[in-house]
Amino acid sequence: MKFTDQPIISMNDFSREMIDHILTTAEKMEPIALGKQKSDLLSGKILAVLFFEPSTRTRMSFETAMFRLGGDILSLGSVDASSIAKGETLADTIRVVNGYADAIVLRHPKEGAAHLASEFSSVPILNAGDGAGHHPTQTLLDLYTIKRESHLEDLKIALAGDLKYGRTVHSLCYALSLYGAQITLISPRELSMPEEIVSDIVTRGAKINEVEYIDDAIKDVDVLYMTRIQKERFPDPAEYHKVANKLKITTDSLKNVKKELKIMHPLPRVNEIDTTIDQTSHACYFKQAFYGVPVRMALLGMVMGAIE
Ligand code: CP
Repeated sequence: MKFTDQPIISMNDFSREMIDHILTTAEKMEPIALGKQKSDLLSGKILAVLFFEPSTRTRMSFETAMFRLGGDILSLGSVDASSIAKGETLADTIRVVNGYADAIVLRHPKEGAAHLASEFSSVPILNAGDGAGHHPTQTLLDLYTIKRESHLEDLKIALAGDLKYGRTVHSLCYALSLYGAQITLISPRELSMPEEIVSDIVTRGAKINEVEYIDDAIKDVDVLYMTRIQKERFPDPAEYHKVANKLKITTDSLKNVKKELKIMHPLPRVNEIDTTIDQTSHACYFKQAFYGVPVRMALLGMVMGAIE
């Protein structure tokens, strides 16, 4: 299977066969991601890192992945210190960076920005999140986490929190539909999953149940995927404050759950998972953040043509 020079923009571009191949390749990368094995797979290659929005995990795990594979990083740094502050367009920035790097990882506040960038780029663009749109590399690491810590076949999963603006849950739903997962969507009505996404994923084979409260909805699930309310995407701050504290879990919420339940979160969390849960066997979110490294190593190796 060849991914050389392919942009990574949306999970809608991936078949189940392609996803399975990436997850298998990521598994082989784990010893290198952990620093137990050395690699020079991407020696001589440069990854440009263009982040127009804040990030810790996505940016640093891409950088770690590149360093662990012997490659180099070229960072735009702060947008305010770049020529974007003088009015340079995204298209021109991408055309220029094409002369400096072998691939570009881009995070941008505008939905569709990664797709637009790929139209002007001669090197592969990896979408690291475009507004409330897609975050495909997060989805791949989420699937990898589910595969490693639970199971992808016959999966019962609950997605809870901001399902309206949360791009990670949009991308994850599309991917889970390929595996025929039973998905429970838990959110206040104001933050429910957009209807067109629900309709799409049902057509693609997922079984969907929508509820407003967490309590009973997590009794039978294998995975609970919590999300942060995306404060920065609310047009009206008053609307954010109405829903800000509606979905939270504490150890009390977990009294009737399966022993094997895994709780995931793309992070950062605000207050939706009480820190007392961190010490339980259910907590999986810090491991999930690490799994971003082997998954992004696999993707970088593939799009830069170093592995198939
Ligand atoms: N999960 C995620 O995208 O985290 P960052 O915003 O820190 O990159």
